[in-house]
Amino acid sequence: MSLILGIETSCDETAAAVVKDGSDVLGACVASQIARHAEHGGVVPELAAREHLKAARPVLDGALRQAGVTLKDIDAIAVTQGPGLIPALLVGLNLAKGLAVGNGLPLIGINHFIAHIYASFLDGGKEELDKPETYPILALVVSGGHTALLLIDQTGKARLAGTTIDDAAGEALDKASKMLGLGYPGGPVIQKTAESGDPSKYHFPRPLTGSAGKAVSPEHKYNFSFSGVKTALLYHAQKLGGKDCILEGQELYDTVASYQEAIVDVLCRKTALAAKDFKAKTVVLCGGVACNSVLRERMAECLAEPAQLRLAERKYCTDNAAMVGGLAHYYYEKRKFTQLDADSYARLPGIAEVPFVKF
Ligand code: KG4
Ligand code: ZN
Repeated sequence: MSLILGIETSCDETAAAVVKDGSDVLGACVASQIARHAEHGGVVPELAAREHLKAARPVLDGALRQAGVTLKDIDAIAVTQGPGLIPALLVGLNLAKGLAVGNGLPLIGINHFIAHIYASFLDGGKEELDKPETYPILALVVSGGHTALLLIDQTGKARLAGTTIDDAAGEALDKASKMLGLGYPGGPVIQKTAESGDPSKYHFPRPLTGSAGKAVSPEHKYNFSFSGVKTALLYHAQKLGGKDCILEGQELYDTVASYQEAIVDVLCRKTALAAKDFKAKTVVLCGGVACNSVLRERMAECLAEPAQLRLAERKYCTDNAAMVGGLAHYYYEKRKFTQLDADSYARLPGIAEVPFVKF
């Protein structure tokens, strides 16, 4: 049994959640700072940290209230330790340390990347992790900071099968949106705009997929690259809309739909290829970009037997604390706690095993 308070402040969402036994989300609260960063066209780390300071208390109180518990009922404090924006992470980490010390509770530092994968197993999906037929799992983590394929076997061993060699998919959507004057964040507005467009109207490149007759080197077989698509969009938008890329009406809708199509196509093709080659039984789609409806539908269509698609619920795709409190259950069970002098980290460390598989 465990009742864990999870805290997440790695980017521009301040979140807290109370999770029972790594599965039942009893209370969850998220405060988004999107409006504050939108005027800057992207997340400003120092601003994010200051906003986390303001939002932390109400979010924490909200999650506890929703769960109908107090800090006295909590067994451990879990917090995102990295990767993420250091000033933002430090607010959550210090808050968690204070709560741990003040309430005599253990501290559990959580890897944000693995938490995104675990998000797909919240609210009743946890039993799947105990079944051998679930493995190997291939997870596509697709967010503003990451685009990576992680392969997990039933002993809990994990290896990075592929990653982006330049921009993350979410970053490519956010930068495109900024370029076309559609605002921040790009993902949701691009999805909305694309609904009115024809995805086959323009052709954008699909780097590292072997399309356009370019062979893919073995080292990049499962890797991604999105900077070329973004550059192609810039040339296209300048050709049609002048140096400030002013596109309007159907031209804008078709451009956005075709651009989104290129990104979705690459994500699906690479994932389907890796799923086939590694004989994945489960394919997990998670991270903020996994909210995208076209990606969700297309991924379901392009995977072949025996791979079963496991989609994280939309509310658990973007940054949240339920995935932090849920994953922490496995550290709690093994009494793997984090020291009070722990630091945050900005980049993804090498992942050799995941804690949520019993090994
Ligand atoms: O996981 P997340 O909340 O934060 C990171 O860890 O990065 O992901 C944020 C990313 C942003 O790039 C945002 O544009 C994208 O997720 N996103 C979407 C959608 N909703 C959010 N991308 C495509 N379609 C969406 N509906
Ligand atoms: Zn994230």
